[in-house]
Parts: sequence; structure tokens; C-alpha cells
Amino acid sequence: MLRGDRTRRSTDRALRSNAFEQSLQALVIVDRESSVVGLNHAAERLTGWSRAEARGRPAADVLEVRTETGVNLCAANGPLRRALRQGKAVDTHFAYLFRFRTSDEPVRVSYSVAPIRDGNDVAAVLVAIHDVTPELEIIQAKDALMLAASHELKTPVTTLKGLSELLLDFDLTEPQRRELLQDLHGQVNRMERLIADLLDVSRIDAGRMSIELSSVEVGPVIDHACEEVRPLLQQRPLRRSVPAALPPVFGQSQKLHQILVNLLTNAIKYSPDGSPVELSVTADREQVHFGVRDQGVGIRSEDLPRVFHKFYRAEDPVVRRIPGTGLGLYIVRSLVDMLGGHVDVRSQYGKGSVFTISLPRVQADRARRRAAVAAS
Ligand SMILES: Nc1ncnc2c1ncn2[C@@H]1O[C@H](COP(=O)(O)OP(=O)(O)OP(=O)(O)O)[C@@H](O)[C@H]1O
Ligand SMILES: [Mg+2]
Repeated sequence: MLRGDRTRRSTDRALRSNAFEQSLQALVIVDRESSVVGLNHAAERLTGWSRAEARGRPAADVLEVRTETGVNLCAANGPLRRALRQGKAVDTHFAYLFRFRTSDEPVRVSYSVAPIRDGNDVAAVLVAIHDVTPELEIIQAKDALMLAASHELKTPVTTLKGLSELLLDFDLTEPQRRELLQDLHGQVNRMERLIADLLDVSRIDAGRMSIELSSVEVGPVIDHACEEVRPLLQQRPLRRSVPAALPPVFGQSQKLHQILVNLLTNAIKYSPDGSPVELSVTADREQVHFGVRDQGVGIRSEDLPRVFHKFYRAEDPVVRRIPGTGLGLYIVRSLVDMLGGHVDVRSQYGKGSVFTISLPRVQADRARRRAAVAAS
């Protein structure tokens, strides 16, 4: 044999062994006697068994893996023995790996058992185990959102049904009919907003919310947001303290609009008729700060950390009388994060609240990027 061939073969062997050792998937080799022959780093971490301790032990000691229906990987008629006896590969999606050795909680895993043949005979099996906890968390979050969405949509749909029945079943005067239609229109608007918010949340959670950053003139966005909330104001004055010349922010105008409308809507919703709502904007060398202040119900200090959580609404009966889903501030915080900004809230229960968002200025952002490039 040529020396070059020998060197290549030993390099190939080393690569194969490294691939086994360094695979991110937990891999365990089990021989015909159902004893563990080897396991890689990932399998050591997942099972809690070191290689030295596991080698030569019955696979059942190291791999206590059961499906929800009780199928045991290493049982006499389980997938491992079947793979060894009949050369059958098995793929299972949801199972638990029990870790008696470390007394850690069982891990949700998927596993596959693949026979390793030597000629016609099955010489061993390779068990590959994958920790599916992160995938399951995503599925559970989606289920929770789905459930909450159905629940939240049920209320306006029930109201719509009632209103449409009244319109169909009764002889109504023209003013009565108009009043019912106006209610109906209000409910449809509420549903439309709710669906838009739910879609935003699902995009945010899936990491699919697209943001295109560019230089944004702040003035027109503020005007537009104030216009949009004007019909909600009733008797409340909306005071604006906005300097004529403001530096542009590095962001996206539609997202900034959405953030401001959410904060202004809350300030209006959670304060009594007639009490003022204030929007003030200031700039420093790095950022532009937008403050939305109200003199409304306020937020208890122990609830402050939760106001940005999905579906959070205060237990306060005053708040619960006002329609809402608890998604607005979750969306606000997610958007502000995506824009590279910061959101802050201060509040006094019974006195009022002020929400402040700070977004990077275009100049400051360029300077930061130049500094990052220079440092790298
Ligand atoms: N300006 C405010 N004053 C007092 N409480 C507030 C204010 N803004 C928010 N909150 C509290 O935080 C909760 C969450 O606000 P968020 O905007 O996320 O949801 P929401 O207004 O209830 O519903 P929506 O999804 O329609 O916005 C509110 O239900 C309320 O308890
Ligand atoms: Mg809100």
C-alpha cells in the first residue's frame, strides 16, 4: 500500500471519529449484547453519564427513554432490540429521557435508532437523541396565542351576532337602526384592530416582523399619530410640546407611528374625560425621546414590570371596564427593541403615568457604527 493512501485513510478515520465526538446531536453506540460501546460529548451532557462510566453498561441503565404511551426504548421488545434483531430503523418524535443519575427533570426528546451492519449482520445500533425542548416551547407559545386569540375574538363576535339579530328581527325606527349600526361598526373596528395586533404578535414571536431602517423625519409622524387618536379624545385636551426643529431618527416611520398611537391610545383610555394627555419630544446628542403623559388611573409599582408582557391587563376594575387585549405594550416594546431604542415607564397609582421611548438619532447611529468598524 502506498504511504499517501495510508495517510489519507488515517486522516479519514480521524475525521469520522471527530464527527462522532463533535456532533451536536447526542449519539450512543450499542452492541449486540445491548451494552453501551461509546457515546459522544453531547450524549454525556444529555444523559449525565460520563463515557468511562457508561462504557460496557447495559443500555437500559444509560438510556431510560420512554414515549408518552410507555414504549421503552431498551425494553425486551423495544425499538433498540428490534433494531438489533431485525435490522429495523426506528424514528420517534416525542419521548422522555429520564435522568435518574443526575436527578434532573426528564427531558422531552426525539430519537432515532439505526442499525449498523457489518456485511449482512447487524453488528450494533446507533441511537441519536435530540432535545426538543426549544421546539416544544415554540409550539406551546403558538397554542397559547391561538387559544387567547379565539377567546378574545369571541366577545366581539357574540356582540355582532346580537346586534345583527336585533337589526333583522325588530321593526326599528331610523334613529334606532342607525344607533345599532354604529355599535356594529365600532365592534367591527375593534375586531379589525385585534386581528392586526394578533398578526403582529405572531410575526414578532416567529421573528418575521420586517423592519427597514432609514432616516425618519419625526414631525410628520407625530402629526399623523395625533390626528389618528383625535376622535378618541372626547373632552381631553391633547397637549403637544414638540420643538419645531427635531433631528431625524434612524427608524421606520410606520413603526414609530404604531408605537405613538398605542401609547397615546392607552393614555386616553386609562384617564378620565377632561384630563389632559401630553406628548413631549426632546432630543439629545444621541437620541430623540418621546414622552406620553397622562393623569389617569396609574399603575401599581408591583405591576410595572408586567405591563409589557403579552396579554397582561391590570386586575383593577376601572381598567377591566375598558376594552383591551393586553397586546399593545408588548408590541410597543418589541418594535422599540427592533428599532434599537429603549422604553421606560414611570407611574403613580391613582395619579397618572408617563411612558418614554428613546430612539437613536441618525447621526448618533452613524457615529456608533463608525466606532464599531474602527474597533473591529
Ligand atoms: N397609560 C396607562 N395608564 C394606566 N395603566 C396602563 C396604561 N397603559 C397601560 N396600562 C396597563 O397596562 C395594561 C397593558 O396595556 P396594553 O396597551 O398592552 O393592553 P390594553 O390597553 O389592555 O389592550 P390593547 O391590546 O387593546 O392595547 C393595560 O391593560 C393597563 O392595565
Ligand atoms: Mg393598549
